[in-house]
Amino acid sequence: MKTKIQDKFKALFKEEGDFYMSSGRINLIGEHTDYNGGYVFPGAINFGIMAEIKPNGTDKVKVFSIDRDEYVEFYLTEESLPEQHWPKYIYGVCREILKRGGKVEGFNAVFAGDVPLGAGLSSSAALESTFAYALNEIFNGGSIDKFELARIGQSTEHNYCGVKCGIMDQFASLFGKEGSLIRLDCKTGEYKYFPFHPKGYRLVLIDTCVKHLLADSAYNKRRESCERAAEAIRKNHPEVEFLSDAKRVWLDEVRGEITEEDFIRAEYVIGEVQRVLDVCDALERDDYETVGEMMYQTHFGLSHLYEVSCEELDFLNKLARKCEVTGSRVMGGGFGGCTINLVKDELYDRFIETAVEKFKEQFGHEPKIYNVVISDGARKL
Ligand code: GLA
Repeated sequence: MKTKIQDKFKALFKEEGDFYMSSGRINLIGEHTDYNGGYVFPGAINFGIMAEIKPNGTDKVKVFSIDRDEYVEFYLTEESLPEQHWPKYIYGVCREILKRGGKVEGFNAVFAGDVPLGAGLSSSAALESTFAYALNEIFNGGSIDKFELARIGQSTEHNYCGVKCGIMDQFASLFGKEGSLIRLDCKTGEYKYFPFHPKGYRLVLIDTCVKHLLADSAYNKRRESCERAAEAIRKNHPEVEFLSDAKRVWLDEVRGEITEEDFIRAEYVIGEVQRVLDVCDALERDDYETVGEMMYQTHFGLSHLYEVSCEELDFLNKLARKCEVTGSRVMGGGFGGCTINLVKDELYDRFIETAVEKFKEQFGHEPKIYNVVISDGARKL
């Protein structure tokens, strides 16, 4: 990947820049909890986005995407939002740095990546984090702290890409550490690294290779449901800032005041926040059976209460149970993408074989298998 980028950069700009990269992410548990002020438990992975960048002394950004084979130029002013989708992420990061009083001037860039798109591995967060990290180093002497860089990526999604996401993806992409998952309290910003080397088990992702339409608007709707539920609970319990602050019985108190749909969404979230803590406890005892069971419970909740699963994901989840996989669930925002599976070494080959065969029989195409390695997040190369 590096050579390709280097060659293209040289050909386009007749010079050399510096290299930066940032990663996609997995999440062991804690889904749709981030924007509810709850816990998440992600880690960066060995799939990422790499960019070569150099200031160009103008007020223009000139950037080439190797994967799209597309060259785009834009100014950094408020009215210069690019029309194409992918440059919006880079433009948004620049604008969000400027809005915070940071510095960004024109630069040349070429980038490429191997994070599968639409698989729920946060390719967009990897892109944002690569540029946020690089532009902080290049124009701001590294003075913007890493958590703020994550917020810059998140605001990019909110303000330029139409997704009201939480902080998990950008956080993981920036803070990732080889061999460790990170439990983040999305309300306080406190986080803790948990070395994750489950002896005798493997983590494997199975990508349905489907992405259902309107996923972004469905995601935003989920968030609105949670906010309405939290608002109703807050009337009785003013200390509830986010839904994750609410006790289950407090939700029951407002059952008659909110729609049944908002109720089941909130029911899922409150359960999921607790499951992250249960998983952390279980990990401290090396109790992977409990970890796995919680993953299945999360899948159930995401499928039946939060309703962000789909036929293909449910199929893989059922199959995992049948194959005695320890834990399995839909990962990320949902509506397609991957399941994350915790599998005993000795069951791995059989499971993958069966999953590929049965999935193809059912849906007419093979799923993709990713053996992810928990890796470092954003860095200069
Ligand atoms: C997407 C969002 C995250 C998070 C997950 C669901 O990946 O970008 O902020 O909400 O969905 O856990």
